[in-house]
Amino acid sequence: MSDRIERLLASMTLEEKLGQLNMIDAGMPPGGEDEMKRQIGAGTIGSLLNIHGAEKLNALQRLACEESRLRIPLIFGLDVLHGHYTIFPIPLAEAGAFDPNLWEKTARASIEETRRAGVTLTFAPMLDVCRDPRWGRIAECPGEDAWVASRYAEAKVRGFQGSDLSAPENIACTAKHLGAYGAVAAGRDYASVDVSERLMAEVYLPPFEAAVKAGVATIMPSFNDLAGIPMTAHGRFLNDLVRGQWGFAGVMVSDYTAVAELIAHGVAEDLAGAAALALKAGVDIDMQDEAYVRGLPAALERGLVAMADIDRAVRRVLDLKMRLGLFDDPYRHVSAAPLSADAAAEITALAREAAARSIVLLKNDKGGLPLKNPKRIALIGPLADAPLEMFGPWFAAAPLHSATVLEGLRAAMPEADIRHVPGVTIEGDDDGGIPDAVTAARDADIVLLSLGETKDMTGEAHSRGRIELPGRQRALAEAVLALGKPVVAILTHGRPLALPWLFERADAVLATWFLGSEAGHGIAAVLTGAHNPSARLAVTWPYDGGQIPIYHSHRSTGRPANPEVYFSTRHTDLPIEPQFPFGHGLSYTRFAVTAVAAAPAEVAPGETITIEAEIENQGEVAGEETVFLFLRDPVASVARPVLELKGVAKAVLKPGERKVVRFTLNTDDLAFLDRDLKPRVEAGLFEIFVGPSADRTRLTATTIHLRGAATP
Ligand code: GLC
Repeated sequence: MSDRIERLLASMTLEEKLGQLNMIDAGMPPGGEDEMKRQIGAGTIGSLLNIHGAEKLNALQRLACEESRLRIPLIFGLDVLHGHYTIFPIPLAEAGAFDPNLWEKTARASIEETRRAGVTLTFAPMLDVCRDPRWGRIAECPGEDAWVASRYAEAKVRGFQGSDLSAPENIACTAKHLGAYGAVAAGRDYASVDVSERLMAEVYLPPFEAAVKAGVATIMPSFNDLAGIPMTAHGRFLNDLVRGQWGFAGVMVSDYTAVAELIAHGVAEDLAGAAALALKAGVDIDMQDEAYVRGLPAALERGLVAMADIDRAVRRVLDLKMRLGLFDDPYRHVSAAPLSADAAAEITALAREAAARSIVLLKNDKGGLPLKNPKRIALIGPLADAPLEMFGPWFAAAPLHSATVLEGLRAAMPEADIRHVPGVTIEGDDDGGIPDAVTAARDADIVLLSLGETKDMTGEAHSRGRIELPGRQRALAEAVLALGKPVVAILTHGRPLALPWLFERADAVLATWFLGSEAGHGIAAVLTGAHNPSARLAVTWPYDGGQIPIYHSHRSTGRPANPEVYFSTRHTDLPIEPQFPFGHGLSYTRFAVTAVAAAPAEVAPGETITIEAEIENQGEVAGEETVFLFLRDPVASVARPVLELKGVAKAVLKPGERKVVRFTLNTDDLAFLDRDLKPRVEAGLFEIFVGPSADRTRLTATTIHLRGAATP
């Protein structure tokens, strides 16, 4: 391949080289559609995004492969984040299944649809760890924990890319957005990020390193600056770390117009300067702003870049196209046989399974769930029959139909008398429907309150300062709650919502996130008990927005939070604890961790540590339990988090059944970054915890002691 690339490169004009670095939004081509087609035929566009459908893509590919001088095929990119035609739960929801096998399966199912629409590159997985629900894009991420995000990264790269990128059933994928985008100031999208080098190394970078180790084909730097240096121009991370230390040999694709935005960042005075900064930093493809095509010729003349810099980027792009098999068969994706009816049904079934397995039962203390065959159900609220809202962000190709809560309930409970009253709109002041809602509730055996956000209240450019219910939904809920009837709240949302008043008064609350095409059926499966809720929170759920950031792996501080101690780390007007901790999620049965043991108690460097935990189902129905393995190094040369997640295990148990789950660690897993950010293991005591969440009152502890110091 490299000879072929070198021969091609040697024959390319500067315009053709820059064309390979030029990705254009086919939905909004800067010069209009005719100009876009002309440029493709002239070989000055190398890839397109935001277009799908075999016929359209074949026509454009023919322009590149039959009209242009060098016949270099196009890459077609699309944000297939959680499904193409069939939409799966948003990543923050799916992360709560804590199941890499499911994460891989939904990625694979997504490309069964998207590759037949000609997509050869998905801008996914999004790997930005986030602890700030104000940020709209928390919906797109795998939660607050770097260990979880790293497992998620590996599973998604496997699912999208398979083991051989050139196989027609696989496509390239993108680890995005590097880095620390989830830590934007105040949760404001695109805002500056100022996190420590330590937090970068311990939290925000590991999921990307995991993606690189898993063979991810492309990486997308984030819009934000990090301590004044925009990631799009951050050579120390993109070149020195990702390429130099991690050995990433793939393609870096800028985010949308992010190269030109270096001018607005204040680090470049014109397009030539911006293009030069990005190219030198390691960005190969420039998305949408034509900064490379229009800026690099001047940058060359001004000596800001050399032809070698351009050639290096072009080589990477040509290499990716070759690895994708596009030179051998540029039409191979779209020529795939259509999905069979069975295959399509399997994808729908997987979407339904993923929906049910992403629902978190937050509260159920009066046993309001599962429903006990009520005759008259009042389904109240603006999210009950909202097919579009079920998708959440990024659903470009979906046929705009989803199974709503109402549809799912009717299908699961055909005999029940279900009265649906929206009551209010999702946002805005219209509350004229509250009296009707109250009437319906008064006549019912049980009330289901379907509340939450619109899909457009989360995702890119949709940060919210107040993480509460929009519009007049609270007024609706309080009017219904005042009746004293059994009330189950079903939340549809892209972020944790601060609703202490609802958690206080509703009998049961389900966090259903945005579940996608099969939302209503997944919700009905949980409401009826057909699926015993098994998902857990991948992000801490704040009691109030004022607690943000709040997460499980925080450090102790010199005055650890203590409600009994005035001079301790806390607010005087808010509780110390979140509404629900990381990992929280109830079941219709009761589990207990009945024993935890770690061996050997005295560990020598290089030895394997085995932790066993016995779990018992002490309730009346079968269920799936998830337990977390946390580590704490209580005394080290650098203060360590009070809980560090090191493993997750699951057990499916019948009533009364007991099982032992096993974790294995090695002494490298006890390592941390020392004062110079170098990995280091220090001798001494380590605390080990196993339990159903980061709620420390529900963790079973043991210890091990590491002899002698061993630096990996
Ligand atoms: C957007 C997003 C990025 C996406 C890209 C292409 O601005 O930041 O996640 O992949 O543009 O749609």
